[in-house]
Amino acid sequence: MRTSTAALASGLAATAAAAETIHGVLVFTRHGDRTTKHYGNTQQLTSLGAEQCFQSGSFYRSRYLSPESPTHISGIDGEQYTRSQIYATAPDADILLNTATAFLQGLYPPLNSERVTTLNNGTKISSPLSNYQYVTLHGVSASSPDAIWQKGDDSCPAAAAAQSNYKKSEGYLSLLSSTKAFYESFYPYLSAVYDYPAASSLSYAGAYDIFDLINVARIHNSTGPAKDISAEDLFQLRTLADQAEFNTNYNASEPARQVGARSLAGAVLTHLGDTVSKGQRKFTLLTGSYDTFLAWFGWAGLTEASPDFFGLPDYAGSMVFEVFSDDEADGQAEKRVRFLFRNGTEDAVELKSYPLFGLNKPDLTWTEFQKVAKEKGSISGPEEWCSICESRDGFCKMYDSQGSSSEGVKIKNGGGGGMDGEMIAGIVLIVVGGLSLLAAVAMWAFVNSMRKKTKGENGATSVVMNAGHHAKGWDSASSTKSHEKVTV
Ligand SMILES: *[C@@H]1O[C@H](CO)[C@@H](O)[C@H](O)[C@H]1NC(C)=O
Ligand SMILES: *[C@@H]1O[C@H](CO)[C@@H](O)[C@H](O)[C@H]1NC(C)=O
Ligand SMILES: *[C@@H]1O[C@H](CO)[C@@H](O)[C@H](O)[C@H]1NC(C)=O
Ligand SMILES: *[C@@H]1O[C@H](CO)[C@@H](O)[C@H](O)[C@H]1NC(C)=O
Repeated sequence: MRTSTAALASGLAATAAAAETIHGVLVFTRHGDRTTKHYGNTQQLTSLGAEQCFQSGSFYRSRYLSPESPTHISGIDGEQYTRSQIYATAPDADILLNTATAFLQGLYPPLNSERVTTLNNGTKISSPLSNYQYVTLHGVSASSPDAIWQKGDDSCPAAAAAQSNYKKSEGYLSLLSSTKAFYESFYPYLSAVYDYPAASSLSYAGAYDIFDLINVARIHNSTGPAKDISAEDLFQLRTLADQAEFNTNYNASEPARQVGARSLAGAVLTHLGDTVSKGQRKFTLLTGSYDTFLAWFGWAGLTEASPDFFGLPDYAGSMVFEVFSDDEADGQAEKRVRFLFRNGTEDAVELKSYPLFGLNKPDLTWTEFQKVAKEKGSISGPEEWCSICESRDGFCKMYDSQGSSSEGVKIKNGGGGGMDGEMIAGIVLIVVGGLSLLAAVAMWAFVNSMRKKTKGENGATSVVMNAGHHAKGWDSASSTKSHEKVTV
């Protein structure tokens, strides 16, 4: 393992569950496999995507709802949906609503037949689709103030401005030129895309979009040429998309870039607060997109626990906040919060626990969790969001009284500045496996945020590489260091 925190993380999954009571959880899930994002609102969750989300719901059902599970949630009705115990929500967009629906179908599958109701006249009645359970799903319109919780960066002018600053950074400009020929080489695969009219229109500026078009085509299009793209090239496209999107959605010195994470933190505090205090709510499902995941990975210090968090989460990946208490403490001890992440839905993909906020602790007391989240700039509600976003449109109009403008609103905007201040632009060593064991090691110039200083357990500073992410470089002059294996 690369760092002490990563080592800590990997041990946690196994040790969790001993002598503790789980009171409730919040799951934030990414959508499953879908058609390409390129054509905007034509995108759809595919059957594969629905199956992934269903599998994810089933996975959490066996972990949290099954009475046999050592990690089942105390007091939850695992068989029959009980409204007061479950809250599920998704932005009002087909893919996300359907993601949540499929997840809930896995979480609460049809009731078994003994649960059918009997009418007064003796007739037995079951519901359609073999006793399907209708779990309430709250769709949130983009114009509602509640839209901030799952998609906090949307319609936020300050976030958009801060995010576009990435395109002015040295790291960006350097990759833009060093990867130009690589991107242009994919033109034969994208020539059918009407708004990429020539090879010259392909570059790192479209890193995610190009990766997405090719990735989707490789999964679904049996007639197009994309299936001929090598796994290695796809990996490069993904890695470049990882970097473009991570840096767009997180920058320690520009807190507005990660407004999505800070809003999500506010939602986590509110929903888990209900679980912690009243104990009625046991399972909360929120639904969103990779940009909020990446913003969260940066903002919550997860990249310090594992460099894997610089990468895009897989389809239907999910993060989980567990509220639990230590049984040994006899109900006296304060409730605690633990963070876990599951990078996809295949059976082999584990749900792993990671320390939050770079604090190197496996979990936090509820008080500490709240305190650190607030210090780092979690957003408490729409009024604060409007102020941070410098938005006066839509629902923000109602906070903008008599032209006094939102400058008068007190905001807490200091979040994010401190903990990751050491993030530096740098050069990364890449160690690769591949066809040849010795082969292909390389460097990227200016791969910001892939090289980080991390404090080891004994206070020693060590360098963490995003080693899993790179197979070849653009800067052949740098390849002299190529055979150094980076171990930290
Ligand atoms: C019992 O009541 C239901 C609902 O009104 C009706 O559909 C059904 O035909 C009734 N069965 C009998 C045996 O009367
Ligand atoms: C982060 O933001 C600072 C300040 O705006 C900027 O100098 C730096 O280049 C940014 N880093 C990236 C990776 O965009
Ligand atoms: C499959 O790829 C071909 C060639 O690029 C393209 O014309 C076609 O529209 C694609 N089909 C789908 C369903 O995207
Ligand atoms: C999730 O998986 C993708 C590859 O499929 C990888 O790039 C990324 O780093 C992984 N994230 C974590 C936190 O494991």
